Amino acid sequence: MTQQYGITLLPGDGIGPEILAVTVEVLNVIGKQFDLSFKFQEGLIGGAAIDETGEPLPKETLDLCRNSDAVLLAAIGGYKWDNLPRQQRPETGLLGLRAGLNLFANLRPATILPQLIDASSLKKEVVEGVDIMVVRELTGGVYFGQPKGIFTTETGEKRGVNTMAYTESEIDRIAHVAFEASRKRKSKLCSVDKANVLDVSQLWRDRVIAVSEKYPDIELSHMYVDNAAMQLVRNPKQFDTIITGNLFGDILSDAAAMLTGSIGMLPSASLGSSGPGVFEPVHGSAPDIAGQDKANPLAQVLSAAMMLRYGLNEAAAADKIEQGVLAVLDQGYRTGDIMSLNMKQVGCQEMGQVLLKVLEG
Ligand code: IPM
Ligand code: MG
Repeated sequence: MTQQYGITLLPGDGIGPEILAVTVEVLNVIGKQFDLSFKFQEGLIGGAAIDETGEPLPKETLDLCRNSDAVLLAAIGGYKWDNLPRQQRPETGLLGLRAGLNLFANLRPATILPQLIDASSLKKEVVEGVDIMVVRELTGGVYFGQPKGIFTTETGEKRGVNTMAYTESEIDRIAHVAFEASRKRKSKLCSVDKANVLDVSQLWRDRVIAVSEKYPDIELSHMYVDNAAMQLVRNPKQFDTIITGNLFGDILSDAAAMLTGSIGMLPSASLGSSGPGVFEPVHGSAPDIAGQDKANPLAQVLSAAMMLRYGLNEAAAADKIEQGVLAVLDQGYRTGDIMSLNMKQVGCQEMGQVLLKVLEG
């Protein structure tokens, strides 16, 4: 019997609509092959939502997401909305979506594909074989801690405040996700913190150690975040799975992504303990190339594969998409961001077409 899934599509801003359109075509083809039927519904988020409704995450969008099996998000943001008050910025919509669906665990794989090794800005021998999974805590830490805001002091001076805070239960639940994820990989977990300075990091470290007692088969290490930033570019092969808080994870996952040559290739999954997950590329909305058919749709396509694997438990369909992406790279097709000598440069739509041909072939 055909398995039915309700998917909320959130195209957002910039290149979002273009890369999501390619991905929907891919899902439709894959659906036919694996007897899956996707019912797509589209919602507004980010700048597109601000323009239409005045807010970056309308209630209808959150309701739509809550009532679906998974959410496929493209990207949000753009120069146009950068100077609005914080409550009306696209980024606030994205944070609201993560908090609203309680998506505390963000999985960001950074895998070097042999086909793209020349696209990395680092030496081949440094990046060859790199395969890292960053597990980022997504609904706590300094992004959400209270108090926050810009206040006026007694002397009339302004003071900006954010609070980095984690409770034991918040740390424990993300630690479990990371230990489980590392078990499916090389069973090596590195927890990144700043416990030499921050109390919140000391508690983080204590709890990760406490949770590790349930995972005696996993080799746990700890690293300060400044050192981790250095080690990621010095010797990235030492890492397998990384667990870290919201802010450190935001920064380190961009660095890890760039080891692979282009952030335009990397997907992510944001998961809670139940309910729909959100699957989105790690890259942003790239307003500078929006609407020009130049964007790389593959991170979005690979996010759909993560949706199938982690959100819908359809691993075979996910495998097929991932193999298809490798095949088009093997055939030499490249968008501008991953272009190198003697390869065939294509735009967003053509990349979609060649991928469809491979999947249907
Ligand atoms: C990311 C982005 C977001 C974040 C922004 C757009 C709010 O950088 O998903 O990494 O900081 O989490
Ligand atoms: Mg980021």
